[in-house]
Amino acid sequence: MTIELRCIKCPKTYPVNEVRYNCDCGGLLDVWHDLESLRPQINHALFDGRLRGAPTPRVNPNTNSGVWRYQEIILPTAVSNLVSRPEGNTPLYEHPRLSTWVGANNFFLKHEGENPTGSFKDRGMTVGVTQAKLMGSRAVACASTGNTSASLAAYAALAGIPAFIFIPSGKISSGKLAQALAYGAQTLQIEGDFDDAMNLVQEVCNNMGIYLLNSLNPFRLEGQKSIPLEIVQGLQWQPPDWIVFPAGNLGNTSAFGKALYEAQQLGLIDKVPRLAAIQAAGASPFYQSYQTNFAEHKTVKAETIATAIQIGNPVSYPRAIRALQWTNGLVTSVTDQEIMDAKAMVDQVGIGCEPASAASVAGTRQLIARGIIKPEETVVSILTGHLLKDPTSTVDYHTGGWPNAQFANPPIKLEATLEAVQRVIGKKL
Ligand SMILES: Cc1ncc(COP(=O)(O)O)c(C=O)c1O
Ligand SMILES: [Zn+2]
Repeated sequence: MTIELRCIKCPKTYPVNEVRYNCDCGGLLDVWHDLESLRPQINHALFDGRLRGAPTPRVNPNTNSGVWRYQEIILPTAVSNLVSRPEGNTPLYEHPRLSTWVGANNFFLKHEGENPTGSFKDRGMTVGVTQAKLMGSRAVACASTGNTSASLAAYAALAGIPAFIFIPSGKISSGKLAQALAYGAQTLQIEGDFDDAMNLVQEVCNNMGIYLLNSLNPFRLEGQKSIPLEIVQGLQWQPPDWIVFPAGNLGNTSAFGKALYEAQQLGLIDKVPRLAAIQAAGASPFYQSYQTNFAEHKTVKAETIATAIQIGNPVSYPRAIRALQWTNGLVTSVTDQEIMDAKAMVDQVGIGCEPASAASVAGTRQLIARGIIKPEETVVSILTGHLLKDPTSTVDYHTGGWPNAQFANPPIKLEATLEAVQRVIGKKL
């Protein structure tokens, strides 16, 4: 036996082919790998060798996928079982104007929006849907602020498994809703917010024998572990000082902490980067709990422009606390105005992201201004989703929806004559 499910609260373990998301004691579960027996097989050369694989027209997950490249420490199974697009292998951008604006000399953006369905969720979903297939699940489901449903819909379609998607009515962006519908998932628009949809989908899955693929599911998190693994590999195994990312349901917080802990145990890295989880001020239960040193477990009614992280009662809360302990991590919050200005800055340099993603950049800037991140430290901020995921919020920012928008670039209306155009362009040149 190489892997099993382990409770994070008590010593109980369960076989990996048992459908469960919580221990009998109520604790969340981890996919546990036998790190001792893996240690002799795992090294930089193993993973670097796979990077050199020639591109092939057919998916060759060991070389084409930035998730399955690490499969020994994610989900060991035959390559023929994998449901892969392939995902990952996302770019690590550097941009001088952005570095200056943020105040960091060694600043990188890991663009997870450049995954097959436009968000990091694909990394978790390839593993979650592969596990669903391995277990012969008759259907899969999730609650979603949009990106999870887009990703699940695509991967379920690839695997030929029916997908049911629970979304808070009117609270997800049109780009994400379009993806779920287009990929053929049955979409259920729930009256209420994400937290209501999350409670309901758990009840439905337990009652109807449907496999739940929210980040409560520990296999999803195994896939998301590949983000920090790919970051450190991309930096020639020299870990950055910080990894900064937006935090909603706390799946990434949990996955990143586990990945870095395991990577250190396996000798892949000799230093653990510090995690900085950034919440939107109007959806900051984890930040508020952090401020009490986790003496109080806060929940809130969430409200933010960054709908992807509009979550008031994050399911991975205990796993995320552990992740902060493992990485000497911290939590902070940024306002919607800061998010939208940071997004406009990321967009303006030609990289682009959706609002929630820009919380990483706004958070990095704030932590540097507060002296917590030092300007010379190496920082990788994660852009979690693609610019095109939420065009409405972008257009709104540039067309007067945000009176204090620092970087608005409104369109100019004019008559269709050469003179009118010359007048406008002449002023700009
Ligand atoms: C674009 C984007 N960023 C961040 C998050 C938050 O990630 P997590 O739930 O892992 O905290 C989400 C989750 O839906 C997302 O879609
Ligand atoms: Zn337990």
